[in-house]
Amino acid sequence: MIRFLMGCAAILAGLSSAQAATVLITGSNRGIGLELAKQYAEQNWSVIATTRAPKDAAELQALAKAHKNLRIEALDVTDFAAIDALAAKLKGTAIDVLINNAGILGGEPATQKMGNLDYKAMELVYRTNTMAPMKISEAFLEHVAASAQKKIVVITSGTASLTNVKPSQFFVPLYTYRMSKTAINMGFRAMAMELAPRGIFVGILAPGMVETRLLQQAGSGGRGIDAPKSVTGVMKNIENLNAQTSGQYIIYTGDTVPW
Ligand SMILES: NC(=O)c1ccc[n+]([C@@H]2O[C@H](COP(=O)([O-])OP(=O)(O)OC[C@H]3O[C@@H](n4cnc5c(N)ncnc54)[C@H](OP(=O)(O)O)[C@@H]3O)[C@@H](O)[C@H]2O)c1
Repeated sequence: MIRFLMGCAAILAGLSSAQAATVLITGSNRGIGLELAKQYAEQNWSVIATTRAPKDAAELQALAKAHKNLRIEALDVTDFAAIDALAAKLKGTAIDVLINNAGILGGEPATQKMGNLDYKAMELVYRTNTMAPMKISEAFLEHVAASAQKKIVVITSGTASLTNVKPSQFFVPLYTYRMSKTAINMGFRAMAMELAPRGIFVGILAPGMVETRLLQQAGSGGRGIDAPKSVTGVMKNIENLNAQTSGQYIIYTGDTVPW
């Protein structure tokens, strides 16, 4: 009898671990990344929450305490050797959803205008917002390929849309930021094409205007939605990623954004 019960317990444990999907998120210590970590943890995903300074990430540490299914890993996304080292450390771990969330604005709007452009800042923005999501996707490709869901996502921005650059009372050029996000949209669009034969789906997902530090810095604080609302929509879009939606530019409401 005891042996029978132990057998049942082992089968149940095996089933539940087979069902726990894994998500890796960059920039998980605040803003949209922290909310993604929270909502995935609450939905019992196995969450690998990365941040460049785990010791300073008080809210993320509290989340890890409350959720045994969330672990924190250090990752500065501009450090490509560190990306390779984390991929090697996690070798053999299937990652169902890889979320490239970490991003920077590159300075306040006044510093992103003709006559004021800061090319050093531009390099850092491209490395963070454009090159790092490519590098991370490349480094973790086999982890994703080994998973059940096989999804790679970048958190892009509506400001990357060429069509939507129109005169309005709120228009700010934000050259550096816009250019970095338009470039990563193209990278992920091409990635969707390349990886389709392997059954890997690629999400180019805009969160909307969200009340975070980045929106404050952009001078648009108070005009956004809250992070939980945005993230609930983004996670729905990730859930709905499939062969048809892969490589599309989609905002948190589920609507497509014109390129
Ligand atoms: N808020 C919006 O309205 C909005 C709109 C469109 C798109 N987005 C995008 O959403 C993403 C998240 O932004 P957010 O709004 O949540 O802004 P946020 O509150 O400023 O958070 C940005 C996150 O990125 C991390 N990060 C920056 N550089 C990093 C690096 N080198 N290595 C690791 N992490 C790094 C930050 O970590 P540290 O604390 O260590 O700096 C922080 O966790 C970004 O890609 C942003 O472009 C936001």
